[in-house]
Amino acid sequence: MKRIAVLTSGGDAPGMNATLRAVVRMGIHRGHRIFAFYNGFKGLVENESAEMYNRSVGDILTRGGTIIGTARYPEFKDPELIKRAARTFKLLEMDGLIVIGGDGSFRGALALEELGVPVVGLPGTIDNDCNGTDNAIGFDTAVETVLDCIKKLRDTASSHQRTIIIEVMGRHSGWIALKAGLAGGAEAILVPEMPFELEDLCHRLESGIARGKKHSLVVLAEGVMSAGELSVMMKDKMGFAANTVVLGYVQRGGSPTANDIILGSKLGARAVDEIAAGVSGVMVGEMKGELVTTPLQKVIDERKIIDPTLYHLAMDLVH
Ligand code: F6P
Repeated sequence: MKRIAVLTSGGDAPGMNATLRAVVRMGIHRGHRIFAFYNGFKGLVENESAEMYNRSVGDILTRGGTIIGTARYPEFKDPELIKRAARTFKLLEMDGLIVIGGDGSFRGALALEELGVPVVGLPGTIDNDCNGTDNAIGFDTAVETVLDCIKKLRDTASSHQRTIIIEVMGRHSGWIALKAGLAGGAEAILVPEMPFELEDLCHRLESGIARGKKHSLVVLAEGVMSAGELSVMMKDKMGFAANTVVLGYVQRGGSPTANDIILGSKLGARAVDEIAAGVSGVMVGEMKGELVTTPLQKVIDERKIIDPTLYHLAMDLVH
């Protein structure tokens, strides 16, 4: 029997609750005791935790957000706070910690591991920028949310014959823009991983308008620039202003898709077994349908970039 702790950290992502539920229920099923720390690493530093039971995670499977809270906690670089967190962990006689979050959270996890805390990471971020997994928990839902918005915006863009720039999240990654833009038939998709020429973009939009296109939708990843900046640049070149829509936090909310629930359930359950087997310093992910572990250091060091084939496909299909 092990005492296993779990926390969610960084930006919330739909499916974090499903992941937590899997950790708790698989943990209890295997005979372990599971404890949650509230609000990410802050809860570990301030010793805010609670034992979790099967009922603690009842009715959360399809809920967005995270019931145990999360936090951006830049202070967690401070060695004193990391020491305090490790002390709490040892004081409570925990055997391992499962961290659900993105690469920033994994940095915190590795700092704790250096002080003797066994850690296993699970990729929970809409950005899908973690190596070692095809999809991060929350990404699929975010893409669906953006796609839904694209469909709505196309209605008004078509009716008014407008150009709309839709700025989506992703931090330095273009995954959300790429998949939602491809699925939504955007006239242009701008991602940080691909070079962008204003000339080409304007030409693409202008020739579409000349061919009788009623709308032009540009899906812009926030890592390239802001929608406002792009709109100004386009106005200078094309002589008319595009409307801008910044989707913002709406992309992080909402009920997770079945894919995210299933992914979170699989990864959460597996993380318990990894911790129980004494594994540490890895992230559990899913690649080509198989559950795999990747060293956390590798997840952090190697930037995951978008699939260029998908990008070219999207560009080739919009004419
Ligand atoms: O990492 C998830 C994410 O939503 C990014 O896409 C975005 O850049 C960032 O978080 C926003 O962060 P915050 O919650 O600190 O505003």
